[in-house]
Amino acid sequence: MGTNLITGGFGFIGQHLMNLLREQGEEVAIFDVVGASRFGAAPEGVKVFRGDVCNWAQVLDAVKESGAECIFHAGAILPPVSEQSPQAAFSINVTGTFNVLEAARLFGVKQVILLSTLATFGRDVPRIVPNDVAQHPPSMYGTTKVCAERLGEYYHRRFGIDFRGVRLTPLMGMGRFDTAQSAYIYRAVQDAVLGKPYAIYVAPETPISVTYVKDAAWGLLDLKNAPQDKLTRRVYNLFGFLATGGELAEVVKQVIPEAQLEFKPDPKMIELVMNLPERLDDTLARHDWGWNLRYDLERSVRDMVADIRKHRHVYEQ
Ligand SMILES: NC(=O)c1ccc[n+]([C@@H]2O[C@H](COP(=O)([O-])OP(=O)(O)OC[C@H]3O[C@@H](n4cnc5c(N)ncnc54)[C@H](O)[C@@H]3O)[C@@H](O)[C@H]2O)c1
Repeated sequence: MGTNLITGGFGFIGQHLMNLLREQGEEVAIFDVVGASRFGAAPEGVKVFRGDVCNWAQVLDAVKESGAECIFHAGAILPPVSEQSPQAAFSINVTGTFNVLEAARLFGVKQVILLSTLATFGRDVPRIVPNDVAQHPPSMYGTTKVCAERLGEYYHRRFGIDFRGVRLTPLMGMGRFDTAQSAYIYRAVQDAVLGKPYAIYVAPETPISVTYVKDAAWGLLDLKNAPQDKLTRRVYNLFGFLATGGELAEVVKQVIPEAQLEFKPDPKMIELVMNLPERLDDTLARHDWGWNLRYDLERSVRDMVADIRKHRHVYEQ
């Protein structure tokens, strides 16, 4: 088994993916612009390449020296940063992806697996978004991720790289720290564990699609291991579950009865959330390579609460 190089490996999903791959006995290396995650340095046995995906030489060195057989390309910038700086978003998310694909081609890396997003779809899609519908995202983030998907497909067609990708919904889980419009789905749980009051900024009836981060990591691993001849697409929609603000608050209060959650709906934030497609149709992923959900809303919240309790010190630093 060769090395799995995770770009953005010190980030939220990167760390959960690293843990899952190691639990499965796989070798992992990290390429990231930072040298550690909020939870600490890389564990023993995980080689770290510190660098910027926009820096061609650093990407080449890391891909060559790691001897990667598979690259999980998670390194990216997300909203709101991507929207504040479209130019940085283009460099990191598009040129960065190009650099990773080109390095994979030069050094014969077998697979490149892209983490894409439901934000690649605009509001002009059906309520349950099919895998292959046209992508007209309203955000710079979504626009860069469409480019990354198409670049990967091009490298597959032209150079035979085994490029695969998943479009994920917003995720919840320990280790998410951003302020994107979906941030309330993790803050409501996190702040309840830490004993802090939290005001959910959507309405109790506002729906959002969510996937637990450990399910996303399993999806990436299952896609990596899927036989080539089963794949009918290069990029697949993955869907977790739909949760309203009210359902989320109810489950958090079931698990942590003393949780201090209230609703302070902010019309601007609700609009941003409602800009995201409601639900992804993941029939193809289920059919082609057996994607299946392990964590529903309640199991996700329970697992996240247990994880944060174990790592409380990180949040209290
Ligand atoms: N978090 C979500 O809800 C979500 C949903 C759908 C898709 N995604 C995708 O998953 C991937 C990972 O997201 P995340 O939530 O873990 O984000 P994150 O911000 O926690 O992690 C991103 C990592 O990329 C690194 N990075 C940023 N710029 C870099 C650069 N120029 N060079 C090298 N590394 C760089 C960061 O240091 C960080 O460790 C992204 O590609 C994102 O688009 C995330």
